[in-house]
Amino acid sequence: MTAILQADHVHHTFTAANGQTIIALEDVSLALSPGTFTALIGPSGCGKSTLLRILAGLVKPTSGQVQFGGLPLHRPQRQISMIFQKDNLMPWRTVYENIELPLQLAGVSKNEREQRVARLLYVTGLLGFENQFPAELSGGMAQRVAIARGLVNEPDVLLMDEPFGALDALTREQMGQELLRIWSTTQATVVMVTHSISEAVFLADRVLVMSPRPGHFIREVTVPFTRPRSIELLTDSTFTLLEAQIRAAIH
Ligand SMILES: Nc1ncnc2c1ncn2[C@@H]1O[C@H](COP(=O)(O)OP(=O)(O)OP(=O)(O)O)[C@@H](O)[C@H]1O
Ligand SMILES: [Mg+2]
Repeated sequence: MTAILQADHVHHTFTAANGQTIIALEDVSLALSPGTFTALIGPSGCGKSTLLRILAGLVKPTSGQVQFGGLPLHRPQRQISMIFQKDNLMPWRTVYENIELPLQLAGVSKNEREQRVARLLYVTGLLGFENQFPAELSGGMAQRVAIARGLVNEPDVLLMDEPFGALDALTREQMGQELLRIWSTTQATVVMVTHSISEAVFLADRVLVMSPRPGHFIREVTVPFTRPRSIELLTDSTFTLLEAQIRAAIH
């Protein structure tokens, strides 16, 4: 199938404030088929966030190409939504107004905005908090607002940078299942960075393992489980085998 988003031989180098050159990504190629769920896993500092920013059109790679829908990607697109590692909410807007923002930018009518925001408030367990400001939320709540904002405009591509990092284990599992439920109705193409091997295997169709910096892919694991997936899968023998393979590739 033709890829909706594709990176070819992407390299990225930063120059630090002290003049030091940091090679973040080295020859990264990746093709995302429409409607698939890819998990990215790798050690801290290996370039995962950098790669996601490049796929979002926020950062131009030092060399290599990114294509979205067959065309070179040069700037952020409305159909590509990014949930950042830090929640990145607007402090002067309420929870409701933060979630509503992408719909406002897309010119969606007030009525429709109300319906879609209400649904996501419900789904992310934020009902009752819609009039609070980000400074009044816990870290996990702020992250859920960011997730709701990323999903609300039903993007074609959803790039998520450790979206569950600030959540406790139980909420994290629930949000993961909720994400799968929402995703099954949206057909979005998802890339999710996570540090959790079991989360990667539970959620994704394939798991890409990155090397330490300079980041490149060292292993691709295809996840064979059908959907919908239930929590019992976590103790399935194939599941634990895949986890072990990924763990071995990382270490
Ligand atoms: N703006 C920047 N200027 C200079 N160096 C940077 C910049 N952003 C990232 N880097 C460097 O590039 C490398 C990759 O960073 P990146 O944030 O992509 O890693 P990561 O895999 O997302 O790590 P983590 O798992 O800790 O979030 C790191 O060595 C980092 O120090
Ligand atoms: Mg990161």
